[in-house]
Amino acid sequence: MKSQDIDQVTGIEKEAFYPLTIGTSFTIQLRNKYSRYLVIETRPESAMSAQLSMVAGLFGIIRNLFIKSPSEAVNIAGYVGIWFQGSEGHISEIAVKKRFRGKGLGELLLIGAIRISISNGLQMMGLEVRASNVQAQKLYQKYYFQENGIRKGYYSNDKEDAVIMATELIHSNDYQRKFLDRQRQYLDSGKQLNINI
Ligand SMILES: CC(C)(COP(=O)(O)OP(=O)(O)OC[C@H]1O[C@@H](n2cnc3c(N)ncnc32)[C@H](O)[C@@H]1OP(=O)(O)O)[C@@H](O)C(=O)NCCC(=O)NCCS
Repeated sequence: MKSQDIDQVTGIEKEAFYPLTIGTSFTIQLRNKYSRYLVIETRPESAMSAQLSMVAGLFGIIRNLFIKSPSEAVNIAGYVGIWFQGSEGHISEIAVKKRFRGKGLGELLLIGAIRISISNGLQMMGLEVRASNVQAQKLYQKYYFQENGIRKGYYSNDKEDAVIMATELIHSNDYQRKFLDRQRQYLDSGKQLNINI
């Protein structure tokens, strides 16, 4: 994510968590050396045809390779935040624009988040998710996050419980094998896996 993405990402956050206002200060997050935010970029023409060219860009270096003219401005289809909390890569937020859901982009973001955690030497991944958010829980389970406990009344607006989920050690042979298998299946299903971090 770059500062120029903030308006679009803020819009995605508003849409994804409505009627709640999360109000993340992405400006602060981008300056935080213990956090990383990845985005999915789509070019307008690919967005229209739903053929998504995806880039999870940390510093946006790749961006200039894709933008050929101002009219080819990038659209952001989703984002994920990862906080480096000790040895844990903590997923702070993940969201895909409504009209792009169900096409594998949430999965792509999660793959990017796990990869960046692995490459930064973190040991495991963790997160909290609303007890009612079955879609997100299924996504995490697909990447071998397991339920580790419940935080009672965690969400301040309505006191819903949070399910705590975490992976095993992400550098273990077992996890690496399973993670690679999942990425292979993703590619085999005809989706693109262009991740630049
Ligand atoms: C959760 C979210 C990011 C998933 O994004 P997405 O692009 O629609 O998900 P994908 O198409 O990549 O699906 C990947 C996996 O997620 C799970 N999943 C996604 N949508 C699902 C649904 N409607 N029902 C059940 N499982 C679902 C499945 O395991 C799916 O794998 P499969 O296709 O093999 O079944 C998206 O629904 C979203 O932005 N939700 C609002 C924000 C939010 O709740 N974030 C999580 C906060 S913790």
